[in-house]
Amino acid sequence: MAKHSIVLIPGDGIGPEVTRATRRVLEAAGLSVDWVELPAGTSAIEQGFDNVLPERTLAAIKAHKVALKGPVTTPIGKGFQSVNVQLRKKLNLYAAVRPVRNLPGIKTRFDGIDMVIVRENTEGLYSGIENEVVPGVVTSLKVASEVACTRIARYAFRYATRRGRKKITVFHKANIMKLSDGLFLNSARKIHEEEYPNIEYEETIIDAGCMKLVQNPERTDVLLMENLYGDVVSDLAAGLVGGLGVVPGSNIGDDAAVFEAVHGSAPDIAGKGVANPLALIMSGVMMLNHMHEETVAKRIKTAYDAVLTEGKTLTRDLGGKAGTDEFADAVIAKLG
Ligand code: NAI
Ligand code: MG
Repeated sequence: MAKHSIVLIPGDGIGPEVTRATRRVLEAAGLSVDWVELPAGTSAIEQGFDNVLPERTLAAIKAHKVALKGPVTTPIGKGFQSVNVQLRKKLNLYAAVRPVRNLPGIKTRFDGIDMVIVRENTEGLYSGIENEVVPGVVTSLKVASEVACTRIARYAFRYATRRGRKKITVFHKANIMKLSDGLFLNSARKIHEEEYPNIEYEETIIDAGCMKLVQNPERTDVLLMENLYGDVVSDLAAGLVGGLGVVPGSNIGDDAAVFEAVHGSAPDIAGKGVANPLALIMSGVMMLNHMHEETVAKRIKTAYDAVLTEGKTLTRDLGGKAGTDEFADAVIAKLG
């Protein structure tokens, strides 16, 4: 195996705990790697960098093209712009891809869930353009560009085609936001009609879509939506399969990709060694597939499936008592 250089961003809160566990699993599975460890988030400031997203971290991701990232904390209602939003915009990581599946051994209300959320990652209401018009009145700008809407639609259809998926459902609110969500919808419709007519295509107003999602989640295949909707629906979907501890993600661009779990820095459990590292381990598996290290990826997936099926070493979010490192050790023990 060629040696890979991967940027490793431990992040804030539970980030360092889950990235350490994931790194151990990837190495034990045989990944030959030079980790380029760099900070982002409030931990960057604590380490003496002058910015929550240091130029060095950005430059390293540009140079090495792949990063594994822990979550970072974003101040609420004040303070700096989200590091994640900055990262995704600056590196043009336009597609967030989040597979949501039932896992072996994890009992949930539903069986047969196997969906993928494809979220536009660079604009929409997350453009961060906000103004106080006059005291007591503020506006937040929702941006939609034909370029970005078409790009994410094409990504979703290509993804569906390559993965043998059958149907794409767009969640939207074009009945209210006729221009911005209208553009999103028209772009997706156009790509379907002109480039991928063989993939089934469906448009659902997001509120009714959410109801259907929690009634019959097994009927959902690929979901395509703009930034804010994708953020919210990702956590909702995670709740259907066992929570944020088990849903991985990736942020994909044409020049770089950053792999991270859907969850945040979980300040309520940070530093206690109890966070579930599985979501980031699964993100690591997505990263390995992206890097064409399918054999190592398969080895890790088989190992965590075995740990989950056995059900003896589960973290607290899944009803067990194991700590972060203990779970990682159990996965490592199952590596064939
Ligand atoms: P959160 O995802 O951090 O936590 C929500 C709940 O899920 C908490 O009860 C937490 O303990 C639990 N949880 C999350 N991950 C878990 C894991 N791996 N194992 C076990 N339990 C887990 O969301 P919250 O509390 O809304 O946000 C906290 C901070 O994280 C905020 O500053 C937010 O901006 C940031 N955030 C960062 C993200 C990123 O860097 N990609 C994504 C989402 C939030
Ligand atoms: Mg989120």
